Amino acid sequence: MIRPAELIEQKRDGGEHSPEGLAELILAYARDEVPDYQMAAWCMAVYFRGLTVAETDALTDAMIRSGETLDLGAALGRRVVDKHSTGGVGDKTSIAVGPIVAACGVPLGKMSGRGLGHTGGTLDKLESIPGYRVELTTEELVAQLRDVGMAIVGQTANLVPADKKLYALRDVTATVDVLPLIASSIMSKKLAAGADAIVLDVKVGDGAFVKTLDDARALAEQMRQIGVRAGRAVTCLLTDMDQPIGRAVGNALEIDEARDTVRGDGPGDFTELVLEACARLLAHSDLGIDVEEGRRRAETAVTDGSALEIFERWIRAQGGDPDPAALERAPVRRPVPASRDGIVTRLGALAIGTAALELGAGRRTKEDAVDHAVGVLCFAKRGDTVLAGDDLAEVHARDDASADRAVEDVLAAYELGDEAPPERGIVLDVVG
Ligand code: URA
Repeated sequence: MIRPAELIEQKRDGGEHSPEGLAELILAYARDEVPDYQMAAWCMAVYFRGLTVAETDALTDAMIRSGETLDLGAALGRRVVDKHSTGGVGDKTSIAVGPIVAACGVPLGKMSGRGLGHTGGTLDKLESIPGYRVELTTEELVAQLRDVGMAIVGQTANLVPADKKLYALRDVTATVDVLPLIASSIMSKKLAAGADAIVLDVKVGDGAFVKTLDDARALAEQMRQIGVRAGRAVTCLLTDMDQPIGRAVGNALEIDEARDTVRGDGPGDFTELVLEACARLLAHSDLGIDVEEGRRRAETAVTDGSALEIFERWIRAQGGDPDPAALERAPVRRPVPASRDGIVTRLGALAIGTAALELGAGRRTKEDAVDHAVGVLCFAKRGDTVLAGDDLAEVHARDDASADRAVEDVLAAYELGDEAPPERGIVLDVVG
């Protein structure tokens, strides 16, 4: 039997765990045999000392072994592709990517999480659709993938339970932004769900857990290597999280924007991210096409209406009403006017994410309820020219007091200058 204190001490002093010792620690924690305070101390030791490649592999493997695994590929008799994001502000990418990829003939069954901190979670966004069921049995999931080609569900209780516990603990002990812990958290879930190929959207910037391009590259490489060692194909997109993605931040508002994008009417940066992710997923699929052909087919699915058709069938299949009129709307809407003429030189993603959180779009603790209707629409983005009095953004709030506060917060997130900032696309680099 391991003694957790010995492992904490070993890591604190810069030592390397044996794969067996590390696996025992993680499995014992998942069985509630190691208290949170010791696990928190271990996470903090990892924050300062890191994990070796062998330790990261052992951690990932133990996380997978803490619960059940799925083999969607075997159930469908096909190669299965999956995507995951490291977490961002206004990140509704999976909600738009899934229907497009499915319309191209490639099933996408995705397990998603809830938002924590200033980043939103895909499940919370989907739950703003009245009736949408996030829990499907494995049989229902497989049947829906056969029938519609797409599903987004919550992580089942038994899939990587060690990550569920550890992630919640990391969230409240300032140990989320630790590269090997992020890498094993994400990859354990993707490997346990049985994906053959994985496209990872690694967010980098002020609204992401990873702030610099160098760290994002290092994280991407760690995740790719974990996947490759497990015999899976992995491509990582490194994408800009210095400003919110698209315009919408807030649950129902993001559903609107995802739907608009699926039918070819989305904001430019978000559309680019979605099409790039689709192209990479299709290139990894069993269609036998390259990235350029994947991109072409994804664009066609958007323009010919087939992606929108899948979007609506998918929402209905999971019990939801796909009509945008069914979404709850916030009672108070406030414009955020520009105070001067100028060019938007900066729009802080963290500040907008935090403003949306304060409005009630996210949770401060795991127990908080989410207000699906509230959020922020950012009309002006980095590089846009505005005149004094133009609407930079619009706040959607539950009441006047929270709207007043949010208008100030959103205004403070914008910096206006006289010179255009350097142009930068949303996809900064591709690894693998
Ligand atoms: N997303 C995850 O699933 N895990 C992390 O550790 C960070 C982002």
